[in-house]
Amino acid sequence: MTPTLSDVYLDNDAFAERVPHETFAVMRDEAPVHWYDWEHGKGFWCITRYDDIVAVMKDWRTFSSETGATALEDLDPDQIEARKSMLDTDPPKHSSLRAIVNKGFTPRAVAAYEDLLRELTRAILDEALPMGEFDFIEEVAKQLPIQVLCRILGVPLEDDEQLIAWGDKMIGNTDPDLGGLHPASPESAEYRLYPFRSPYAMEVFRYGHRIAAVRRDAPKDDLVSKLVTWEDEDGTRLTEQEFDTMFLLLVVAGNETTRQSIAHGMKALIDHPDAIRRLRDQPELMPTAVEEIMRWSSPVIHFRRTATSDVELHGTRIAAGDKVVLWLISGNYDERQFPEPLRFDIERRPNNHVTFGRGGPHFCLGAHLAKLETKVLFEELLPRLGSMELAGPARRVESKCTNAYKSMPMRVTGP
Ligand code: HEM
Repeated sequence: MTPTLSDVYLDNDAFAERVPHETFAVMRDEAPVHWYDWEHGKGFWCITRYDDIVAVMKDWRTFSSETGATALEDLDPDQIEARKSMLDTDPPKHSSLRAIVNKGFTPRAVAAYEDLLRELTRAILDEALPMGEFDFIEEVAKQLPIQVLCRILGVPLEDDEQLIAWGDKMIGNTDPDLGGLHPASPESAEYRLYPFRSPYAMEVFRYGHRIAAVRRDAPKDDLVSKLVTWEDEDGTRLTEQEFDTMFLLLVVAGNETTRQSIAHGMKALIDHPDAIRRLRDQPELMPTAVEEIMRWSSPVIHFRRTATSDVELHGTRIAAGDKVVLWLISGNYDERQFPEPLRFDIERRPNNHVTFGRGGPHFCLGAHLAKLETKVLFEELLPRLGSMELAGPARRVESKCTNAYKSMPMRVTGP
């Protein structure tokens, strides 16, 4: 049955089984600026059309990130200050923070990692594929992004499992299986000054301090060393709060999201065997296939902005101080922008998805890296397999923030 506007329900459990594409389609058609009454706090505006999402992201003066770009809860001033990362700033503060880390993620800097990515990918596949039957999330999708990130940050490689576990417990904190602390639980109040109201964010901060102390004494050519030795022309350094939140942002943003583009990519290919055949016959299609995997996967379901002044959009008045939620996943399936959006088309062109944001100052720092990781993984994987199928149902994370799988049993045979 086609949902109506009065059925719109977008809490975590609405995403437990699948993405509610029909709900977003109704909102795009009938109420592109839709007020959502939220049971966990003050309601918010939902922006669901592609063009509007891009326009809001570009207009950071009217739609600010300063009061939180991720949390939908209304944060108190002390929470805003304590939890604020680069993601939660507007220019000019944002521009100066971003400039510290930007160089390491340009297309040229990322291209230099390609050999390393291939080497890591081969080692991961060498371990996983001989098992014949395995969990693709555990054995493959989780592995590559974190191994790359450990090297970029300069944290001990043997800590990768620990970082994965902390990340899962923060990002997947609304899923009862992942062991995090639910942000709506009374116990989370103790951690209200930490990102995600999570004790695991506190753990990541403590861990970051230990790595920072080592690098301060003996800097190396890695990102943590850069953060702890950075100084602007006036001799200003990053504060502890700025270091903590930047470190956590990089660990979380660079890990969970790319895992999910790889996971959704795998599932989409299994569900579309014709795409696998074409990619094997025409490997030159891989770049457009990766863009389609990015659109299709939309690992980040939404980001948030807050209106700084009264503003009108599609005849609806948004008041200063209102929360404005950008449903990226809806933008990526907007039929006004993407013909037949529910068709997985590895040759889709143009494919200007909003998976990494678009047009605004916060465009994903790691977009080139995420795309290269995904491309290398499938380039290395496909020639090694004769057949691949799901060996059981793929299980989703119960979350309205992350479009994610927590397990994906797979059966494979060699070529
Ligand atoms: C498929 C994988 C990825 C997806 C879907 C993704 C998505 C996004 C999105 C939508 C934003 C914009 C947030 C906003 O407008 O408020 C963003 C920002 C960001 N991403 Fe990614 N990301 C991915 C991979 C990565 C990787 C590999 C890194 C690298 C470490 C990374 C680091 C960041 C950072 C640091 C920001 C904040 C940028 C800023 O505030 O200027 N991301 N990401």
